[in-house]
Amino acid sequence: MTFVSDNTVEILSQILQETPHDRLFVLTDSNTRQFCMPVLQQIPNMANAHHITIAAGDDNKTIHTAIKIWEAFSTRGATRYSLLVNIGGGMITDLGGFAASTFKRGFNYINVSTTLLGAVDAATGGKTGVNFLGLKNEIGVFKPALHVIVATEMFHTLDSRNMRSGFAEMLKHALISSYKDWSEICHFDLDNPDMNELSGLLQRNIAIKQHIVDEDPTENDIRKALNLGHTVGHAIESLSYRTSTPVLHGYAVLYGCIAELYLSFIKLNFPKEIIMQLVRIMKRYYGSCNVSCKQYDTLYELMQHDKKNRAEYINFTLLKDIGNICINQTATKNEIFEALDFLRES
Ligand SMILES: NC(=O)c1ccc[n+]([C@@H]2O[C@H](COP(=O)([O-])OP(=O)(O)OC[C@H]3O[C@@H](n4cnc5c(N)ncnc54)[C@H](O)[C@@H]3O)[C@@H](O)[C@H]2O)c1
Ligand SMILES: [Zn+2]
Repeated sequence: MTFVSDNTVEILSQILQETPHDRLFVLTDSNTRQFCMPVLQQIPNMANAHHITIAAGDDNKTIHTAIKIWEAFSTRGATRYSLLVNIGGGMITDLGGFAASTFKRGFNYINVSTTLLGAVDAATGGKTGVNFLGLKNEIGVFKPALHVIVATEMFHTLDSRNMRSGFAEMLKHALISSYKDWSEICHFDLDNPDMNELSGLLQRNIAIKQHIVDEDPTENDIRKALNLGHTVGHAIESLSYRTSTPVLHGYAVLYGCIAELYLSFIKLNFPKEIIMQLVRIMKRYYGSCNVSCKQYDTLYELMQHDKKNRAEYINFTLLKDIGNICINQTATKNEIFEALDFLRES
C-alpha cells in the first residue's frame, strides 16, 4: 500500500507494529542518514534495528554495495522473516529492494521515499536492481515493496535540482493520463512549492503509475507507456555521464519527452500546442538542452542499445494525444534527428 504523508513517524510506527518480522534492518545513504534518520529515530522499533549506511550517489548502486548489504544481513542473522526499511531516494530503494528480494530468495521490504523522483517513480512498481558494466539497472528483479511511504516532510532538505528532476516524471505521468491531470500539473508553481498542493498531485500521480503497473507488472505491454521520453532521455543521460556536466535523470526525461512528443506530432498528429506548453516549462525550470548536432550519431547509437528494443528497431512510446498512448512505435534516423533539431532549437 502507498501512503503519502507528512507524518512518517506515525505511519511507519504503525506499519512496523502490524508487520510480523524477526529482525529489522534499516538502509540509508550518507545524506538520508543525516537528514532523515534524526526524525525517524523516535520510532520505538528503530532502537533495536540493524542500521546499514552506504555512500550516497548512483555510482554506489552496484553489485559491490549489494554484497556489502548481503554481508550485513548474513552476519546479523537475517532470515526470510526479516524486514528491511529503505530510507532514501531511488538509489536506496532500487538497491535495498534488490538486496532484500534476493537474500535467501527474498524477504519483505518497505520503501520510505525521501526524494520526489523516488516518490513518483522509483519507490512504486516493483522494479529493483543495480547498475552493471556501465549500464543502468542491468541486473535486477521485479518485486514490489510491501508498503511505500512517501515522506513529504523530508523533501524540505532536497535541493531544487532534485525537486525538478522528480517533477519531470510527474509531467510525464500527466501526459499519459488526461487533460485534467495535465492542466493541474501545469499550474503548479515549482519555484514556490506548496507542499499540500504537491501532496494532492502526488497521490493522483502515483495512482496513474500504480494503475498501469497493476495491469502489466512485468512490462510486456501497457507498462511501456511509462517509458515516454525515456528512449531519447536515457541516451541524453548516458551521454552526459561521459562529460563533466552529467544531467539528472528527470532533466533528461523532460528533454526526451519534448523530442518524443515532436516525433508523436510528425507521425501521429499529436497537438503541437501541448509540446509548446512543455517547452515553456522547460525554459522556466530546466533550461535548454545543450546537445549539439555533432552528438546526434552517438545519441542514435545509444538509443540502438536501449534495453527496451527488440531486434534492430528503436522502440518508442508515442502519443496521439494526451492520454492516447501508442506503444511499440519506431522512427527513422531522419525523423529522430529532426526531433533532436526541434529539441536543440527550442
Ligand atoms: N525502480 C524504478 O522504477 C525507478 C524509476 C525511476 C528511477 N529509478 C532509479 O532511481 C534513482 C534516482 O533516484 P533519485 O533521484 O531519488 O536519486 P538518489 O536516491 O540518488 O537521491 C538523489 C540525492 O538526494 C539525496 N537525498 C535523498 N533524500 C534526501 C533528502 N530528503 N534530503 C536531502 N538529500 C536527500 C541522496 O542522498 C542523493 O544524493 C536512479 O538509480 C534510477 O535508476 C528507479
Ligand atoms: Zn524515469
